[in-house]
Amino acid sequence: MQIDNDRFREEINKELSSQTRPTITVLSSLLAIQDKFGYIPELAIDVIAQYTEHTINEVWGVASFYPNFRFTKPGENMLEICWGPTCHLAGSSKILNDIQEALGLDGEGETINNKFTLKYNTCLGACSQAPVISINHDFIGNSTSESVLEKLSKIDPKL
Ligand code: FES
Repeated sequence: MQIDNDRFREEINKELSSQTRPTITVLSSLLAIQDKFGYIPELAIDVIAQYTEHTINEVWGVASFYPNFRFTKPGENMLEICWGPTCHLAGSSKILNDIQEALGLDGEGETINNKFTLKYNTCLGACSQAPVISINHDFIGNSTSESVLEKLSKIDPKL
């Protein structure tokens, strides 16, 4: 396990040292790590603290201030369902309920098999095609529960 941790620490350090910004900060380092791994692993807090010469508490302070940082590993695929006003009027609530039921989720989060992370979005920026969802950042407009489930079952045939 120690070897795995050492290797992971090395990988994090490599990511931190490959930042090309002129000024390396705690925030830029957190962003680099989240871009690379999809979340901020606990070990990265320690490595960032050493790398930027800050305390672990200072790094946690920055990381926990921004709600976009996540501290758990995301699912293999990202599903976002828009529930903004336009999509809501076009029926996104039904899609949201049906998809949550199919995925076995009560709200946002990861499915048990970690195939999907479900996130709500307040506007995916394509209101004219409401209701809109996105799977791995591909937008799908004029969605229905059936069309979304069909797409998801191509990723996870057990659905
Ligand atoms: S409200 Fe859903 S895309 Fe804008």
